[in-house]
Order: sequence, then C-alpha cells, then structure tokens
Amino acid sequence: MRFLPAESHDPNLLVGIDNTDDGSVYKLTDDIALIQSLDFFTPIVDDPYKFGQIAAANALSDIYAMGGEPKTALNIVAYPIEKLKHEILANILQGARDKVNEADAQIVGGHSIDDEEPKFGLSVTGIVHPDKFYKNIGAKPGDVLILTKPIGAGILTTALKRGQLTADENEQMTHFLTTLNKYAAECLRNVHPHAVTDVTGFGLLGHAYEMAHGSNVSFTIEQKNVPLLRGTKKLANENTFPAGAQANYKWLKDAISFSETISHVEKLILCDPMTSGGLLISLPEEDVQKFMTHVKRVANEVTVIGEVIERKEQTIYVK
Ligand code: CO
Repeated sequence: MRFLPAESHDPNLLVGIDNTDDGSVYKLTDDIALIQSLDFFTPIVDDPYKFGQIAAANALSDIYAMGGEPKTALNIVAYPIEKLKHEILANILQGARDKVNEADAQIVGGHSIDDEEPKFGLSVTGIVHPDKFYKNIGAKPGDVLILTKPIGAGILTTALKRGQLTADENEQMTHFLTTLNKYAAECLRNVHPHAVTDVTGFGLLGHAYEMAHGSNVSFTIEQKNVPLLRGTKKLANENTFPAGAQANYKWLKDAISFSETISHVEKLILCDPMTSGGLLISLPEEDVQKFMTHVKRVANEVTVIGEVIERKEQTIYVK
C-alpha cells in the first residue's frame, strides 16, 4: 500500500516504490545490483521454531522471485518480554536462522522492541545481475503460467486459530510454508521466464492480476489445475476464510471473468491470502518442458495452471 508519491530520480534505482514488485533493485556496478525486501507478521502457527522458519522462508521468497541470491538478513522482533518465556523467542530466532542458512545467507543483526503481541519477520538483502533480474511484469501471449506451491494457507491458518485443523493438515501446510522457493528458482536459471512473482497477501488471483495487468495481457487460469493444500476445500465449505480472502475478491471481481461452473467458495479460495506461497511464473512455451523436467526433481507439486493470451476485455478468465 502506498501513502506517498514516488520521488527518486536516481538512475541506479531499477525497481523502486513506483513498481508494485516483490522487492527493490538498486544497481551498484555493471555486474551487481542489490535486492531488498522486508516482511513481518504475527504468529500463524503454534510451534515457535516453525513460525521462525516460515517468516524467514516468506521474507527470502521475494529475493528468489526476482531471480536473486539472498546474502544477509536482519531480524525484526516485537515481543512481550515480561510475559512470554524467552525460550519461545529463542526458538523463533533459531528457526529463522536455520532457514536463512539453508538459503546460504547470514543473519547479521536485527532489532527488537517490547510489544503486547509478538511479531516477527526479516529484512533480506540479496544480489542479482542488473540486467538479469525478474520483474512481476513482462508476460507475453503464448506463455504458460506455472505455480510452484499449493494455495489455501490463509484458510488453513484461520482454521488452526479456531482449533479446526487436523494434525495431518497442519503438518502438510507447515511443510510447504517452510519450503524455500530457492529450489524452484534455481531451476529457472536454465530457462528464460518473462515474469516471476511470489504468491502472498493478494492471493493467487491478486498476484496474477498484477502480473497480467502490468504486462498488458490477459490470463486464462484452469481452476481445477490449481493445487490446494490438504483440507482447503473442506474448510472453505465450512466458511473458514480469513478477512483478506473477501477483501481480495472484492478488489478483483470486476477484472475477472469466472466460468459459470466455478462456485463462490472456489472463487474465494483463489483469492485466499498466502504467506510463503509459491512462485507464479510466466514462461515461454518452448521452455516449459525443460523447466518442468528439472523442477519436478526438487518440487513435485509444481503445476501448469493456465496461459497468457492477448489482452481482452477482462484481465483474467478463470475456467
Ligand atoms: Co512478493
């Protein structure tokens, strides 16, 4: 959300606040640009170590979505220091550190404040070649749309807060949310994606909308091909939605044409806000087989969910 007009005219700022991209890109030399990103939020799972892992995987994800390599990270901590055990915070920090290390990056500092409600996240700095980073726009007609993780985490974390999530559903969700987008991103190095972003708070359709709209194309998405976390359908049918799913749907509904066969619950699922979601990739058709063969070895759930078409009346057609 933007509260101030952009004002930088520095030519080295390649991606800044003007762009609704995943992070900023600032050119340092002809070979190196900095990528920076920041995210923090209240706990979404009960296990503090896993929460730290999820927060780190989520913050690192923007660097991967831009084709960069994470290098350093700073912790952002708000914590009720008198009320909650220090051990809980230590576990959050350990989870984050382990994920940042898995990303071949280092936690180099941070800042904490005393706060009633715990919040945690990270600011991550990465590097990329200034000519080779991915934007969340640039999709071209004929491209294939690929999603690298299942959706539904907003619904599942809402169910967890209400005590409605089974242990099995919780375990599968936590597995995906703690999985780094590193491995899928590495497979992109051998191909030439036209646009890449990660699916987070705006939900699949919100991030797809930004990509399609910014690229001046339209998308078709096959609803039945979109992978869902276990339990998503059942919980959605019980009306277990976070407020963000409704808000995203309200924002997007006039730009999207849904086939008559798509139910209202299915529409809301596609708008469900994610944390640490997968990459949404617009890939030239000729690269798809190569990418899929490669990526299936590291992430079996990667799926083709639609395609890019010439700009039509609506921005997205969900079939
Ligand atoms: Co992002």
